[in-house]
Amino acid sequence: MEIIIKADAQEASLEAAALIARQLRVKPESVLGLATGSTPLRLYERLCAMAEAGAIDPSQATAFNLDEYVGLPGTHPQSYAAFMQAHLFERFKVARWHIPNGMSADIARHCAQYEEAIREAGGIDLQLLGLGSDGHIGFNEPGSSLASRTRLKTLTARTVADNALHFASPEEVPRHVITMGVGTILDAQACLVLAFGEQKARAVAAMAEGPVSASCPASALQMHPVCTLIVDEPAAALLERRDYYRWVYENKPDWQRP
Ligand code: GLP
Repeated sequence: MEIIIKADAQEASLEAAALIARQLRVKPESVLGLATGSTPLRLYERLCAMAEAGAIDPSQATAFNLDEYVGLPGTHPQSYAAFMQAHLFERFKVARWHIPNGMSADIARHCAQYEEAIREAGGIDLQLLGLGSDGHIGFNEPGSSLASRTRLKTLTARTVADNALHFASPEEVPRHVITMGVGTILDAQACLVLAFGEQKARAVAAMAEGPVSASCPASALQMHPVCTLIVDEPAAALLERRDYYRWVYENKPDWQRP
């Protein structure tokens, strides 16, 4: 895993945008896996600005989102479909995008079809991920199988509390979600994880330096051959090898830079 420590979330988001821009330059018809939450907001703003300025062209790209709340229609302002529309796709116009349907009448079948759609698109080239404060990726809560595929999950009380700030009250946060599995995520050609703020420091350390364990689903990314983790200083605070990661980045050969 490559670990890049930036001064703040804005710097980190610019680095992430550069990686996605390179992906689209190298392969305009890329399949991007995308995430929601507050973490990618600066990145999405940057990508929109780059697309509007003609610096990148997402018009041939396909996107698949990681997850969606069960029971919220795409028109609900807190649905992840509405989030993606508002924060990315209105201005960053991809050829097509997919998100699990939280209103599906047959969730098991829908999840299998979502997996099939990813396969038919040729698989995900670059998967963007945020990190839950409990170490979840997508909505794969602690205890999730590291081989899991897209399926229904029940949120932990902690995630409900973390995500309640986007809703009028914690009672309004759905208890169930559809999420790509850890196995689905590991199938991507490359993964890009962002984590900002001191409230993510423990999860970052567990993900990058802890044991590979279902207790921290993000730790499964240690098994991924091409995973980049970009953090700000507060999120890096508990990394034991942080000086080494800085050293690696400072000495990175030019040809490896985006
Ligand atoms: C949410 C999402 C994840 C996201 C994570 C962190 O529950 N399902 O995809 O990465 O939790 O959220 P945030 O970026 O708001 O801290």
